[in-house]
Amino acid sequence: MKTQSVALFASGSGSNAVNLIRYFEGHETISISLLVCNKPDAPVVEKAKNLGIEVLIYGNQSFEDGVELTSDLQARNIDWIILAGFLRKLPLSLIRAFEDRIINIHPALLPKFGGKGMYGMFVHRAVIEAKEMQSGITIHLVNEEFDKGRMLEQYSVDLDETDSPETVAMKVQELEHRYFPYIVERTIQQHQ
Ligand code: GRF
Repeated sequence: MKTQSVALFASGSGSNAVNLIRYFEGHETISISLLVCNKPDAPVVEKAKNLGIEVLIYGNQSFEDGVELTSDLQARNIDWIILAGFLRKLPLSLIRAFEDRIINIHPALLPKFGGKGMYGMFVHRAVIEAKEMQSGITIHLVNEEFDKGRMLEQYSVDLDETDSPETVAMKVQELEHRYFPYIVERTIQQHQ
């Protein structure tokens, strides 16, 4: 079976990127080949390098038309793109070139709390303001409409009146670390 080569995209602290890199270390058929980042000083850059992952930095301009980025990934025989806290909208050319091969994780139960401006603590604050009794994660394929690609899996966690945006963030992150690598693995293996 041909090894599937994965590019991680991340812009932030990288806890999910690190978790994925560790999970797939030595994996038989899935290899994390590189990290794509749009911020040279993001903590994820150092963390990935320390784990032996090649990092490619692209300026924000590269995400406008995406031609260079798409052809670079194709030249490196990348099969899958995993978004792990990537804060730029992907160019259409990239989405089309990797149709059904881009996976995103969103820190809420879509379709609630998705769309423009809904990332990081903005999501968790909105969840608390709406007095939700549950939050969770949504792992989905990326298509041309933001946060609306085919859902792969959701996991939820109970909230109570004592929760704050910070405690919701912790509960959600725990779900992310527990389930994201497994769903990535399952999705890729189903296509093999
Ligand atoms: C996660 O909450 C993920 O759901 C969202 O961005 C965040 C990234 O966190 N898409 P980290 O950088 O992996 O810690």
